[in-house]
Amino acid sequence: MLGRYSRLPNLIQLLKQVQFCTMSLPSILVTSSATPTSGIDLLRTKCNVTIMPNIVNTREELLQALPGYDAVFLAGKNKVNSEFLDVAGPNLKVVSTMSAGYDHLDVPEIKRRGIKVGNTPMVLSAAVAEITVLLMLSAAKRAHEGRTLLEKDQVQTGPQWLLGLEIRGSTVGIFGLGNIGQTIVKRLKGFEVERFIYTGHSRKKAGDELGATFVSFDDLLEQSDFLVVAAPLTNETRGIFNDSAFDKMKKTAVFVNIARGQIVNTDSLVRALRNKKIFAAGLDVTDPEPLPADHELLKLPNAEIIPHLGSATVRTRNDMSTIAAQNILNALEGKPLVYSL
Ligand code: DGY
Repeated sequence: MLGRYSRLPNLIQLLKQVQFCTMSLPSILVTSSATPTSGIDLLRTKCNVTIMPNIVNTREELLQALPGYDAVFLAGKNKVNSEFLDVAGPNLKVVSTMSAGYDHLDVPEIKRRGIKVGNTPMVLSAAVAEITVLLMLSAAKRAHEGRTLLEKDQVQTGPQWLLGLEIRGSTVGIFGLGNIGQTIVKRLKGFEVERFIYTGHSRKKAGDELGATFVSFDDLLEQSDFLVVAAPLTNETRGIFNDSAFDKMKKTAVFVNIARGQIVNTDSLVRALRNKKIFAAGLDVTDPEPLPADHELLKLPNAEIIPHLGSATVRTRNDMSTIAAQNILNALEGKPLVYSL
């Protein structure tokens, strides 16, 4: 009989340990209830998780919720600057954004304060490359224009009506041959592209392996039949596609942006499309974002526009959520982040 209870002191000890661990679990703020559960479930194995109601929280609401957490999981493009960090307070050890892009983060300031910071690149490259192909094709084939005419009952017949362009035989230019740019080139391999060219800071081994030629920015503008923007938004790239850039492009060029809207001067793009300086544009990203429903770009027949859907697939968003969570756990356990900035 006694034997049955002889393990009791051990059990009590264990319960005390569990209680201690629960009390001292790190606290995580997740900024949206729309965050895929893959990441949340992972965090819950080792942390206390607080989830904000949804992604349209105002800045004020976010700042109100922020103080005292060990980590913040950013499910949207919430700006992380000195104000954010001051409000978060000295407990904050890691900021993890569920995105590849990090132009909403003041990375130097976050790091200066000894806070770790991570993002989720690579896992979204396939999804974004697919969206790129979609935009290249739909802009080149005038899909939006055709659909609009169909809705207006203005479809004509005849062999010269609504002719588009082909990727076959074209020169495809990539502005920024990072992981996404490289994945785009790989996806396009079956399209009989004549030549891949790219520009960036320097020639890349990956470019050589893909058979892509490193060129200057001006050469990229002048030679591309399809020009795809796949570079991050930085002080260097902000507004680089302006009037002067569009003036150098071919009149038959298709311009595609899957990176960040602010890399392009929107007024210049509107002028280029309206005055037929280029053939068409395919845009997953815009400035502003989202575009107001009455925006000039939305009135142009040669602009194919979707509302920043690059990584919006179930598989990719689950992967992004898991990696963003793993970045937090690693940081809190003193391990290297999966992807750190
Ligand atoms: C990112 O993760 O930066 C992408 O823009 C999301 O689509």
